Amino acid sequence: MSNTIQKNLDYKKYVVSTKLQYFKPHATKIEKTFAEEISSSLNRDSKFIDPKYFYDKKGSDLFEKICSLPEYYPTRTEISILKQLQDELPSYLDENFRLVELGSGTSVKTRLILDILVKLQDTTEYFPIDISEILTESSEQLLKDYDGLHITGLIDTYEGGLQFLKNFDDKKNLIIFLGSSFGNFSPNDGCEFLKKINSTMKSGDLFLIGLDLVKDSSVLESAYDDSQGITAEFNLNILSRINDELDADFSLKNFSHYAIYNEKKQRVEMYLKSLVNQSVIVSKSNLLLNLEKNELIHTEHSHKFTLSQISELLDSTGFQIKQTWLDDNKHFSLTLASKN
Ligand code: AVJ
Repeated sequence: MSNTIQKNLDYKKYVVSTKLQYFKPHATKIEKTFAEEISSSLNRDSKFIDPKYFYDKKGSDLFEKICSLPEYYPTRTEISILKQLQDELPSYLDENFRLVELGSGTSVKTRLILDILVKLQDTTEYFPIDISEILTESSEQLLKDYDGLHITGLIDTYEGGLQFLKNFDDKKNLIIFLGSSFGNFSPNDGCEFLKKINSTMKSGDLFLIGLDLVKDSSVLESAYDDSQGITAEFNLNILSRINDELDADFSLKNFSHYAIYNEKKQRVEMYLKSLVNQSVIVSKSNLLLNLEKNELIHTEHSHKFTLSQISELLDSTGFQIKQTWLDDNKHFSLTLASKN
């Protein structure tokens, strides 16, 4: 362990118990603040708010609600595929694999993978990587439910967490990236991110990625514009967050949720539409925002993939596909790959 610490000098280690520890970077890397980012992304012709800002406490709760909506098929479909995997994934694994998860708000899914690992191992290691400290809550519960589990939480960006892992030790890693979270990346950034994952992997490591598939636009559009209006609330909540944290005066009733599937670009696009001509002050961003009636603020791209695109994508970023699993409707995919 002392070796490990030597190699990760810029992280502080918090030991909660023999089974639970966290690593957190000493100083946050020089990143633009929320106020600065909003100041530049809203101060241009095509206005934009980064979807990473959806997930304050309220937004994370709303996202949880979205996951169980009748129209939002991805979560339950991916879970059904993970259940189908219980018999097949073990043949790729052994007692040496630790589970590394990019993002950790997916406890049901994590459990389905842990269920497999604990059958193969006396002690199982789980490394959630998440920028929010939310992983501390879910970790405590996991430890209650799994006897032989040891958790090391990395409270950092995905890039930071992956870099940490690369220097950590020689144990084999099964890295999972579920929920089609990858769909938020632009094609270019997505490629770069996959290359980064690949470069942190050793030859025996495995990568499991969940990706949403191209399908009928009516299915997609209702998944992102549900009849109970939860997705609308989720989208609009980003304005409340800006009001609260950046001293802004967005009036939510002057905006509506708008989601559309762009077939050519294979992505669901989410916007907030200004319902009137209006000006909004965002004090902490030093911004006076003028919006015309019907003007759109872009909040999210959610890319969808074909199976051949998935294989091209993984091929071109240094992976070799081991297996792809789908649900009966071919709505969602899970792909297991190794480093080429
Ligand atoms: C968390 C990015 C995978 O794109 O489906 C759900 C977010 N946005 N409903 C997605 C989301 C609107 C979700 N991801």
